[in-house]
Amino acid sequence: MRVAIYPGSFDPITNGHMDIIKRSCVLFDILIVAVISNPNKIPLFSVNERIELLQKAVAEIPNVTVDNFEGLLVEYASKKNAMAIVKGLRAISDFEVELQMALMNRKLNPNIETLFMMTSYKYSFLSSSLVKEIGKFGGCMSQLVPDIVLPDIKAKLKNS
Ligand code: PNS
Repeated sequence: MRVAIYPGSFDPITNGHMDIIKRSCVLFDILIVAVISNPNKIPLFSVNERIELLQKAVAEIPNVTVDNFEGLLVEYASKKNAMAIVKGLRAISDFEVELQMALMNRKLNPNIETLFMMTSYKYSFLSSSLVKEIGKFGGCMSQLVPDIVLPDIKAKLKNS
């Protein structure tokens, strides 16, 4: 079984995340989308809310599951018998941080490979932070987040 982990804050899920999920899940038998429960930054959406949104968004993709983790990513990945960690790259600014994490993760566990996927061009400007800002001020979020979770995200941001 080829298992991979796609980790992140997913606060909230965006179409950029969906793009990486759809393109990477075909490379593995199982792709686990893993929501970090104790991120450095305080999330707007609770772990349960982030998981629910993800579950709705990936419901139609049979080999994608959603989970949450805390602590070291490589430890979680090895507990799940994962061979790879999937990460999306948008810009050079992502690269610097991601290179550092990939090399550190490799030092911690050389058996787990980090696989980088370039974002699709049309999502290269998209981030959860921008989605939150746009939603908070009543901007149009269609095409930024999956249609199926758009009403949930809108409602939460309106009341935040
Ligand atoms: O969506 P994000 O916020 O960019 O995701 C960052 C995440 C969760 C992938 C990263 O913070 C992480 O791996 N955290 C787990 C703790 C860990 O293993 N730290 C050492 C990384 S070298």
